[in-house]
Amino acid sequence: MIGSSMSKKEKNVFQRIPAPLLSWYQEHKRTLPWRENPTPYRVWVSEVMLQQTRVEAVKEYYLRFMNALPCVEDLAVCEEEKLLKLWEGLGYYSRVRNMQKAAKILVSSYGGEFPCDIKELQALPGIGSYTAGAIGSIAFGLPVAAVDGNVFRVASRLEENATVISDPSYRKYLEKELSAVYPTGKKACSEFTQSLFELGALICKPQSPDCEKCPLTGVCGAYKHKTQLCFPILPEKKAKRREEVYVFLIETPQGFAIRRREEGVLKGMNEFPSHVIINGESAENVLNEWGMYEFKEIKRQKCKHIFTHIHWDMTCIWVQTDVSPFDTYTLEEIEESVSLPTAFKQCLAVLD
Ligand code: ADE
Repeated sequence: MIGSSMSKKEKNVFQRIPAPLLSWYQEHKRTLPWRENPTPYRVWVSEVMLQQTRVEAVKEYYLRFMNALPCVEDLAVCEEEKLLKLWEGLGYYSRVRNMQKAAKILVSSYGGEFPCDIKELQALPGIGSYTAGAIGSIAFGLPVAAVDGNVFRVASRLEENATVISDPSYRKYLEKELSAVYPTGKKACSEFTQSLFELGALICKPQSPDCEKCPLTGVCGAYKHKTQLCFPILPEKKAKRREEVYVFLIETPQGFAIRRREEGVLKGMNEFPSHVIINGESAENVLNEWGMYEFKEIKRQKCKHIFTHIHWDMTCIWVQTDVSPFDTYTLEEIEESVSLPTAFKQCLAVLD
């Protein structure tokens, strides 16, 4: 266990991982689209996507995004609706908005090139120490660690470190200690970062670590003491606020009503007009408030959506009317060119 009684030898556990980990990586690394030609732009896009979704799910998004916006100049000038559509389903839309802000700065101040400097990378919108470390090491071959959930898990088990991973000083500690053991050479630095991710994803898994296949058992404290499942120490989960929400699929002869959200979660994103139920008001009342008096309810259906801090219990209501107080879009347009967050996209099921 980490603490004052730890010997000097145990403290140096990280120094002993690059050699076995790098040889393991050569043999076991997966073929992933962002690993081919890892330019700063390609690494950046993949890492932002990987912060929010599983590797398997990211592949398709990544290829589509790269096809539509192959370089930073394309991202900088991309029309907002097209950008949000490319991100549809990934969530955390502020991340892609920040990417576009950063792309504009890269084009206007850096000639479309990424700075080969961690501090300068971190000064760009949306780029924190993790993303800067990933771009710096994977694309530029700098000896800088990128500490994500995989790396926290691997490192905390190696040292049996009982610090909660949400403690910012633990991240700083790992960034410093891991960066200090990076191998020499650009390729090796790039691969060391990726080998840590890969070990976390393929071997040092959260609930079912495959220790028998791990190249680091010889130095792993958790393996030695059979405490693998005690690490990492995760922060306590906070209960999510619950909201009851009406979501209206307002169908007119021209299509379905869609508007921009002006506040709350998903502010600035498109929605099927929705309403958080506060005083138990009826759906009819809400529609009246929007100036709709002539409509026919066809069907309603319950569904849920879980955001980072809020849990929505949704009642999706399909109504038909002659005129909508909001802009309307056909189902084809919604599929092809209107960006719609998953919370609302799933409401289309009420039409089945
Ligand atoms: N998880 C986070 N970054 C990753 C990467 N570059 N490859 C695979 N898994 C990852």
